[in-house]
Amino acid sequence: MRGFQPRCDWRFILLRFFDSIPAMPLKIDVLTLFPRMLDGFLAESILGKGIEAGLLAVNVHDLRAWTTDKHRTADDRPFGGGAGMVMKPEPVFAAIEQLQTPGCRRIYLTPDGVPLSSKLALELSEQQHLVLLSGHYEGIDQRIRDTLIDQEISIGDYVLTNGTLAAAVVIDALARFIPGVLGEEKSLTHESFSSKLLDFPQYTRPAEFRGMSIPEVLLSGNHAEIEKWRHARQLEKTRRVRPDLLT
Ligand SMILES: C[S@@+](CC[C@H](N)C(=O)[O-])C[C@H]1O[C@@H](n2cnc3c(N)ncnc32)[C@H](O)[C@@H]1O
Repeated sequence: MRGFQPRCDWRFILLRFFDSIPAMPLKIDVLTLFPRMLDGFLAESILGKGIEAGLLAVNVHDLRAWTTDKHRTADDRPFGGGAGMVMKPEPVFAAIEQLQTPGCRRIYLTPDGVPLSSKLALELSEQQHLVLLSGHYEGIDQRIRDTLIDQEISIGDYVLTNGTLAAAVVIDALARFIPGVLGEEKSLTHESFSSKLLDFPQYTRPAEFRGMSIPEVLLSGNHAEIEKWRHARQLEKTRRVRPDLLT
């Protein structure tokens, strides 16, 4: 009879050793002219708990801290004329050069960037360090984009007054992929965009409310039937609302 064989393979020992080292939490630096916009967002709910538990670290910086004149000027008129103001290069260069680390990803939030998606959020959650730059006014001096920015991300086809809320959206979307943030990892698996399908309808107690009852199948206890019903609802909703996801 074979007894317990201890694993003495050096590769096994190395793997166990690295497994026992806790992963470094993702560090995010946000550069904005409106740092207080993120106060409540970072303190509340699932994200606030994730930060408190040390699963990710978010530092919000006021870009004006890197201005050098007494008026703390962060913008100027555009060369070539036109309406609005443009964010000056000097404070942004100084800030990013101070905060960046080797291998970090420097991101500018902008409506003409690549659209944020679940796939991109997952990819960002696997980085070690992100620097998120929020613009204001007409945007930022192109030389910042040309030399300091690794990726430009849009949160949708509309224009916000500044990029701080866009940075918040990126942080919220990626945080959900960091192990431990959601608590119950399986809640990620059926969600909209985790497959090519949108989510199914959810109901909770009471089963009867103002004459509206919940679908019978959900009370059946028959898990196979419930799965079938949910999948059918997902297909029906995706066909109706986002047929592009099915092509
Ligand atoms: C008024 S917008 C500038 C818009 C720019 N002139 C354009 O048309 O592309 C000011 C700032 O808000 C942020 N912003 C606005 N809409 C955004 C979006 N859909 N996604 C990400 N950031 C956005 C960017 O940081 C931008 O620099």
